[in-house]
Amino acid sequence: MTRTPSVSPIDLRSATALALRAHLTAADDTDPLRRISQARAAFPEASPDLISAVMTQVTLAQRGARRLGDWADDMVLETAALEQATRRDVARYRAAELRARLANYLPDTPHPAIVDLGCGIGVDARALAETGSPVTVVDIDPWRCAAAADNARLAGTVHMWIGDIADCDTSGFAAAFVDPARRPPGDIRSAQGTRSVRASGPEDWSPPWTAVRTLAQRLPLVAKVAPGIPLSLIPDSAEVEWIDHDGDTVEACIWFAPLATARRRATVVPPDRPREAESLVETGAPPAPVAAQLGRLIIEPSPAVRHAGLLDELADYLDAQRLSPDSNWLTADAVRATGLARAWHVVHELPHAPKQLRAALTGRGSVTWKTNDVTASAGTQDARVGHRPTSGGRPATVVLTADGRVIEVEP
Ligand SMILES: C[S@@+](CC[C@H](N)C(=O)[O-])C[C@H]1O[C@@H](n2cnc3c(N)ncnc32)[C@H](O)[C@@H]1O
Repeated sequence: MTRTPSVSPIDLRSATALALRAHLTAADDTDPLRRISQARAAFPEASPDLISAVMTQVTLAQRGARRLGDWADDMVLETAALEQATRRDVARYRAAELRARLANYLPDTPHPAIVDLGCGIGVDARALAETGSPVTVVDIDPWRCAAAADNARLAGTVHMWIGDIADCDTSGFAAAFVDPARRPPGDIRSAQGTRSVRASGPEDWSPPWTAVRTLAQRLPLVAKVAPGIPLSLIPDSAEVEWIDHDGDTVEACIWFAPLATARRRATVVPPDRPREAESLVETGAPPAPVAAQLGRLIIEPSPAVRHAGLLDELADYLDAQRLSPDSNWLTADAVRATGLARAWHVVHELPHAPKQLRAALTGRGSVTWKTNDVTASAGTQDARVGHRPTSGGRPATVVLTADGRVIEVEP
């Protein structure tokens, strides 16, 4: 059962609601009940329902700050939709990218009309509207659709259509964006959190993956999906782009033909600087040579590069070599500055045998262990080596390479 917020998005944008939101946001008192009673005294004309709904908005804005940055403060929010919403920086990056790709495809249409199918609270819609295109938001949930329209109107021209994507007439649009819900209907939406189950596979998404592929035959389409989507489900003519933001691969983006420009792409969007996003595309670079000796740097590819399988392209781009035949890491003496990888300075090699390694780390604080693939569980590695972090001791970062070397590194 889905619980729709009792106050409409339009009422949450009334002059009283906006003043209340500013008042509640600025309040120093951390106790919510006292904040509400102060708001009642300051806004006697506001109904208890409105005060409580605005308080929920303030709570959600705090919760959404990492995802939405400053947009969290002026958007109308809703719990389950916020949890599924795109990060602001990623939405902005993708909207600009869609505009650039459409410009190649439709050079005579400066502001092509876009339809956002399954808009949620409209983070992507707002970013798309920012590019100057008229945007139509579509959602089966009337409250969300109205909220998305209202939120995206902060940036540009927006129309709304409430209903099922399957019934939506897409004929008047130059392109569509679709972000299938990965949760079945039945989310309990409230400021206290959701009780929801994630759909298990792409055919359980809403709309299901086969419906997304059918849509792509009707108009140029870009779809946001989970980074782990099986590649067997992607047509050969489409591009898969894995996107990192703030250290994590947050999504994959499928650019269906004619929007595709490569087969695989890894992109890193720096927090608050979406225009400075960096991308690496599959070029079919030859296998990176294995280094004869360790360079001054060990290079850790960003997660998106790993997802996209572009280690050889990264080695080519950075003029670096593979650390060992099976390694996912690279080495070089110097590399250009890039968000696509993290360069660690080699401090020294440590002994491999647990006893000698333990002795070498005596007196050191906590150790961050990094293996070929992931940051290894510190507890497990500490236990294997018998390392006991010394309180106040200098922390260490240690790379365990695929061919058994142990190397201390620093940023
Ligand atoms: C993942 S959310 C979209 C989030 C949005 N991109 C954002 O960043 O704010 C997916 C949305 O699709 C809507 N939806 C799911 N199935 C739908 C369908 N068949 N027709 C219309 N909307 C649908 C859900 O109500 C939900 O709001």
